[in-house]
Amino acid sequence: MAITKIQNIAVMTSGGDAPGMNAAIRAVVRAATYYKKDVFGIFRGYQGLIEGDIERFTARRVSNIINRGGTILKTARSAEFRTPEGRKKAYENLKKFDIDALVVIGGDGSFRGMKIFAEEFDLPVIGIPATIDNDINGTDFSIGFDTASNTAMEAIDKIRDTASSHNRLFFIEVMGRNAGFLALYSGIAGGAEDILIPEEDRGINELLNSLMRSKRSGKTSSIVVVAEGDKTGKNVFELAKYVEKHLKEYEARVVVIGHIQRGGCPTTLDRVLASRFGVRAIEALLDGQTRKVVGFKNNRIVLYDLDIAIKKQKPVNQELIDIIEILTT
Ligand code: F6P
Repeated sequence: MAITKIQNIAVMTSGGDAPGMNAAIRAVVRAATYYKKDVFGIFRGYQGLIEGDIERFTARRVSNIINRGGTILKTARSAEFRTPEGRKKAYENLKKFDIDALVVIGGDGSFRGMKIFAEEFDLPVIGIPATIDNDINGTDFSIGFDTASNTAMEAIDKIRDTASSHNRLFFIEVMGRNAGFLALYSGIAGGAEDILIPEEDRGINELLNSLMRSKRSGKTSSIVVVAEGDKTGKNVFELAKYVEKHLKEYEARVVVIGHIQRGGCPTTLDRVLASRFGVRAIEALLDGQTRKVVGFKNNRIVLYDLDIAIKKQKPVNQELIDIIEILTT
């Protein structure tokens, strides 16, 4: 590892929380301590940095958190950090604590803020992808996605029981403002009859056709998983009304799973991913790397340019879309 001048490293969580963020904080703190660096926790993301909400962390400060959902550092979406004045205040607070490098655990919005900040103040930074949406380009998985898709799948399983008892059609909205990863994974795992995602605009007639095919094939109940950002209807409630109006044989209900998907104990996969990401982030900084993101690609932990993470939308895996029709035959 190259020798850098870095001694004091800060870590924050930013944007929407994701199960496994605590495991990542723990890994960052423990790795920094292992390499004899001082480490600081910044509370409430960039907003806390602007307000100087910073605490020196020890390895023991992160005991017993690997299993906990949420983030002990809290999180926020800061409008003030989008202004040059806000970022200047943030930098002054870093200087007060002699912090000379920053690890940001969050999604693409948080990474965009990190890039501007790093450029303005020439600060070494590394990003750790954490979002239940799994929409950060350059990494196959982000922290929180596995847990959230399991939570959504369990909800779908439960709804299937009542859907089948009543011969009903359920529309289940899962999170994913701009991305369909959660919908695809939970939908395929939950055996959904159809899955609607923002990346693929099939039109409402195609949905009606697919539901008619389901009926004709002898299915008595159906589940359609809809990503929050899908635009097939005005919203999931309007969509259900439209389908009931045009397919009289269906009695529809709507469930919005919502923020339940953001909470809960992280799965093994999320804990291990977060632990690997955290250690790699610290090693990257100590190796003199900056403006990079740690990721998981082809079964390996990788380091890649921040621009790759923020400049392109992550494509969904076409093969997942292709198998839906086959599986719902
Ligand atoms: O980005 C993660 C996410 O959970 C999205 O799927 C969702 O649209 C959004 O956050 C909700 O954000 P908030 O909790 O601020 O309402």
